This record gives sequence, structure tokens and C-alpha cells, in this order.
Amino acid sequence: MTVRISPRLDAIPHYEPGMTTAQVLARYGLDAAVKLASNESPFPPLPSVEAVIGEGVANLNRYPDPPAGALRRALAERHGAAFEQVVVGNGSCELILLAGQALLDPGTSVIHADPSFALYPHLASAAGATGVAVALADDDGHDLDTMAAAVDESTRLVVICNPNNPTGVYRSADAIERFLDGVPEDLAVIVDEAYHDFVARPDRGRVMSLARERPNLLVARTFSKAHGLCGLRVGYAIGSPELVGALDKVRQPFNTNALAQAAALESLRHPAELERRVASVISERERVERELRARSRAFTPSQANFILLGSGQGSAADGTSVHERFLRAGVIVRDGAALGCPGRLRVSIGTPEENAAFLAAHDHVYEPQAMRKDA
Ligand SMILES: Cc1ncc(COP(=O)(O)O)c(C=O)c1O
Repeated sequence: MTVRISPRLDAIPHYEPGMTTAQVLARYGLDAAVKLASNESPFPPLPSVEAVIGEGVANLNRYPDPPAGALRRALAERHGAAFEQVVVGNGSCELILLAGQALLDPGTSVIHADPSFALYPHLASAAGATGVAVALADDDGHDLDTMAAAVDESTRLVVICNPNNPTGVYRSADAIERFLDGVPEDLAVIVDEAYHDFVARPDRGRVMSLARERPNLLVARTFSKAHGLCGLRVGYAIGSPELVGALDKVRQPFNTNALAQAAALESLRHPAELERRVASVISERERVERELRARSRAFTPSQANFILLGSGQGSAADGTSVHERFLRAGVIVRDGAALGCPGRLRVSIGTPEENAAFLAAHDHVYEPQAMRKDA
């Protein structure tokens, strides 16, 4: 006898996580490996954040503050928004999923780009709604005109990933504003800015100012990337009290754990230290891009903390894929096939040493005598 589980679940796409360092070490008999596969920060949390986490452990017999009041107030102040315009969650993933729960019903639809963040197709499947995936433009960025044209009466939500994961392409604040002007004012739009900190453009952050004013716009950010807190799970979103209130209604009261709230609050107090770390990632990204150019390796110019590159035509003389050859060389990159980008690899930007290890592995993997051109 089988348990009667909702048939909606059949439509939920399978998520294939990247290999862990331990798995790669065991499989290839390595002593060490560099992990550049999950767009994490190469830096641990700031020392004062580590201290706050340590102090918080003694109070874990108590539930966390349900509205995450102190953190919400700090975020509201940081972004010039009202307290009612901020919602905090167990990673920005939770908030995006909650938006799906709050906004979608069977018979409605959600529009997102493809390839984009693997979470988005879940929103439709989980709600029994329809997912409309709009192919990226030729530059690997969102095709905002086609996305706007895809809006119809059934559309309840549009998700824009900016910069886009896995391609790293950034759409300007002007382009996002034009998109918002072209869709109905009562249609909810989420701009997922998980990689916002790594954007090196003068309009960085302007979309957030639109979220303070436009009733249908929600901007999601995370402490997982620049703040180096992905293991704790904490993200936030800013939008109109109406949209934020909808997410607040469907979230569980204690959705953001106490250590995450305290750590995020402390991390916000040190913008200069964080900016130095972000600047290092940006300058390393530019260096890796220069090195790839010097090697004639095709890649998509990125405004995030990762780069999507062509894996080339060859396979190794022994038939192993380019992705596997990187793993064997002790550099864990992400196979583009698992991200909807077959024939490509995504490499996260690490410390200068980690990026040097990636470039050395690149030169080893693509050694002319190690490759043949028939794959
Ligand atoms: C586009 C995008 N949004 C959100 C997230 C997840 O963020 P969080 O760790 O806050 O759930 C990621 C993580 O990789 C991402 O790539």
C-alpha cells in the first residue's frame, strides 16, 4: 500500500546538490581539495560575529524572538524602510518559497528565467500552479521584454534573479524599472538580489529604493554570500507592508533561529570590514576573467561571485569529462549540466590562493596532450 501523498509533488524538480569536499576527497583519494562550487564566501564570519554566536549558545533553551525585531529594525534603518516593510527568514530561499505559498494557487502562474536559480520552478510545483520559464537573452541575462510579454491574467508572480545565477549577468536598475513600468501594478515581482554585494556598477542598490515605494515589488537579499553566514540560514526581503504582511502571515513564528538573528545583526555593524572582503572578491573575479581571456577560454562576464565558463569541446584521453578532471585535480567546480547549462562549468570566486589553484587545474585539465577533440 502506498501513502496518499499529494500528486503535486510529482512535478517538483529533483535538485542535484554539488559534491561535498568529503565526497570528492574519498572518491578521488585526495588529501585536500578547493571548493569553488556553491558560490559561498571564502571568508569565515567576522570575528565579532563568531563571538556573538558563541555567546548565544547559552540561551538556546529559549525560543528566538518571533518577529526578529532587533534585526528587522536594523535592516529597516539600513534601507530607509519602515519596520512593516521588512521580513526576515531562514535564508532568502525560505522567503521566496513563502512568497509562492502566499501568492500562488492552482490555475495561477509564476514567470521566471531559464536557466536561473534552481529554486524557482519549485514555487509553481509546490502550489499546483503553472511555471512559465522564459529563456535567457543571447547575453545570458534576463530577457525582460519577453518576460513582460508572457504576463497574462493567470500571472501572480514574476521572479527576477539579478545578477542571475548561474550566468552572473546583471540587468541595470533602469532595465528593471522599465520592466516594472510595463507590467500591471498589482502583479507581484520579486527581485532576488542574493549576489547584489558583488555588483561593480554605479546603480548597485537602486532597485532596493524602488521596493520602498512600489506596492508590488519585493527585493530579497541574503546574509549567505558577502556576510559568509550561509551555514546559519538568514535572509530578508523588503517591500510594501501588504506584500511583507502576506509573507509574515504564512511563515512559522520562529522561522529565523536565535543565533542567525544575533549573527546577522552583528555582521550589519561592520560594513567597512565586509566591504574589504567584497572588494577582494570583485578584484579576484576580474583577475580570473583576465586569466581566462589570456587562455582564450570562453566565459560569460560576471557581476556575481562566480563565473560560468565554456567547458570546451574535448574530453580527456581516458574519456573522463572536463568536470571530472577538475575534481581529480582537487578543484571542485559545478558541472553546468546540473544547472541547465550543459557544456559549461561554474566556478565560484575564492581566496587568491584558491583561484590560483583553479587556474593551475585549468591549465592541467586543458593540456593539449591530455585532451582529444572528438567528444
Ligand atoms: C539566486 C539565489 N538566491 C538565493 C539563494 C539562497 O540564499 P539563502 O542561502 O539566503 O537561502 C541563492 C544561493 O545560492 C541563490 O543563488
